[in-house]
Amino acid sequence: MDVKEAIAKRRSIRSFQEQQIPEHVLEDIFQLASWAPTHRMKEPWKLKVFQGKGRNIYVKALMRSYERLGFFHQNQTEKAEKMKQGIETYLFSIPHHVLVYMEKEEDPLKMDEDFASVSAFIQNVQLIAWSKGIGVLWTSSPCYYENGFYEEIGLHMKGHKIVGLLQMGFPKSIPEPKPRTAIQEKVEWVEEG
Ligand SMILES: Cc1cc2nc3c(=O)[nH]c(=O)nc-3n(C[C@H](O)[C@H](O)[C@H](O)COP(=O)(O)O)c2cc1C
Repeated sequence: MDVKEAIAKRRSIRSFQEQQIPEHVLEDIFQLASWAPTHRMKEPWKLKVFQGKGRNIYVKALMRSYERLGFFHQNQTEKAEKMKQGIETYLFSIPHHVLVYMEKEEDPLKMDEDFASVSAFIQNVQLIAWSKGIGVLWTSSPCYYENGFYEEIGLHMKGHKIVGLLQMGFPKSIPEPKPRTAIQEKVEWVEEG
């Protein structure tokens, strides 16, 4: 698969087969993704891969965090319980939850550099995985801004920043592409002062 095809044909995957990706394959993907640009050669990405029984730690921490954030509060107890069950079942259907995080920097410039670099790393992961027939969903969540969640997974919000959570596995289905805007609408050519 060439670069053009990987970029244009990659889709965010939201349903996965049960089968786990072999650890050496995941490791190869992460290693190759490490060629992402990184100012001051900091390679700021850090990963926690929750898989098999380890998914319990991530899923339970996430559910308790949503609970603390009042996510289920509007609903009656019975409805909320059903909703929680549904989310948990869905999360356990995903073979790998890859939490990508970095050390926080006090200097906003360095913080943004590192955040940008980790984002480039994540997109590399998505493209490399896609070229191997592996699906990824890059996810964000309000829980990644909640102290308790960090503590439950062994991080601390003062020193760490979660950049994204990558759900990974072999795709069960591939969605239709969502068309992109013509780039002419986004570009301004500045040629004269
Ligand atoms: C920072 C970031 C966070 C995202 N968070 C979510 C998410 O929480 N849930 C989700 O379904 N998709 C999430 N996405 C994926 C986008 O929805 C997806 O890229 C978009 O719908 C375009 O689809 P495509 O990637 O298949 O082209 C996220 C993407 C980015 C870059």
